[in-house]
Amino acid sequence: MKEGIYYIGASDTEIDLFENQYPVPEGMAYNSYVIIDEKTAVMDTVDARVTEKWQKRLTETLGDRKPDYLVVQHLEPDHSANIGWFAEKWPEATIVLTAKAAQMLPQFFADIKFKTQTVKEGDTLNLGKHTLQFIMAPMVHWPEVMMSYEQTTHSLFSADAFGEFGATTENGEDDDDWTPGARRYYYNIVGKYGVQVQGVLKKAAALKIETIYPLHGPILRENIGEYVGHYANWSSWKAEQKGIVVAVASIHGNTAKAAETIVEKLKAQGVESKLIDLTRTEVSYAVAEAMDHEGLIVAASSYDAGLFPPMENFLLHLKAKSYQNRKVGIVENGSWAPTAGKIMRGILESMKGIEIVEPMVTIKTKPNETVWAQTEEMIKALTGKK
Ligand code: FEO
Repeated sequence: MKEGIYYIGASDTEIDLFENQYPVPEGMAYNSYVIIDEKTAVMDTVDARVTEKWQKRLTETLGDRKPDYLVVQHLEPDHSANIGWFAEKWPEATIVLTAKAAQMLPQFFADIKFKTQTVKEGDTLNLGKHTLQFIMAPMVHWPEVMMSYEQTTHSLFSADAFGEFGATTENGEDDDDWTPGARRYYYNIVGKYGVQVQGVLKKAAALKIETIYPLHGPILRENIGEYVGHYANWSSWKAEQKGIVVAVASIHGNTAKAAETIVEKLKAQGVESKLIDLTRTEVSYAVAEAMDHEGLIVAASSYDAGLFPPMENFLLHLKAKSYQNRKVGIVENGSWAPTAGKIMRGILESMKGIEIVEPMVTIKTKPNETVWAQTEEMIKALTGKK
């Protein structure tokens, strides 16, 4: 830890689904920090699932001291579950938060009286050697969010931003590659609000940042520019991986076989391509892959005069996360009345900057020569290759 900054977060290694939806096979870290100086500030609390560990770490780190402040950067329950406990244990401590958070706080703790201090952009809180400067971050990804920059140690307490799925050590460390887990976390949790993320990145560009203390995942100490670079790309929906994702939802295997052949055709043309079976891939992983690649082909069966649900689920998730500015090819299959293509087209057309390449490919049960000719045309339109 940097001088005077202590990690008191805790990891939940029993949890299966973060936010009751995202698989976290490696667990989940809920981060919290204490800054000990002439005044003592606790930076956020943690999820109810790790309450006991956090309370123990907090009280052991404080020793004989009482906290002067609890800085609440984000009110979502995975960080705010223990604010009530904190305020009842140390009623003389001040809860430092945005005006929006102060307005929302009674929704979470209706029966508790809080001593609060609201802060706005650029306000500072002097703790002694350390000074916290507050950076408003509305809609990253809730309206009441702020970040805090500690001026002496050049530390950015970044709320949910720069987080990662997965557990960490007791020191808030993790040796694994940050990028895959952070990418899936970003696109699924923060991703809809890329414009707001870019606004905060602009403000952060004016700061010298040596360490990032996020609310999830490991503390980031080196190569800060690399992490910020990823956020600059992700927040502008810029693909970091070349090539095309072929996402397929097939009932009996015929559409899957066609999708496999499309991947082979792409590779034969020197186009990198990745097949994702939506019936076997949890949707948050599929969303992250689609977001991170240059192009997309969706291939799905018709079902109940509609669209096979794993594809519908995928496209609706992409839409919810503001997937945008990509070329997309469509392959539908239907043995007697294909309906999948029309529905896929409708969902894709409702997204910003999506260009659907023609022709849409229609398979009736199994591909024939006409289908492969259509496919070649569609691939040509998508890749620009002759
Ligand atoms: Fe980690 Fe938006 O809460």
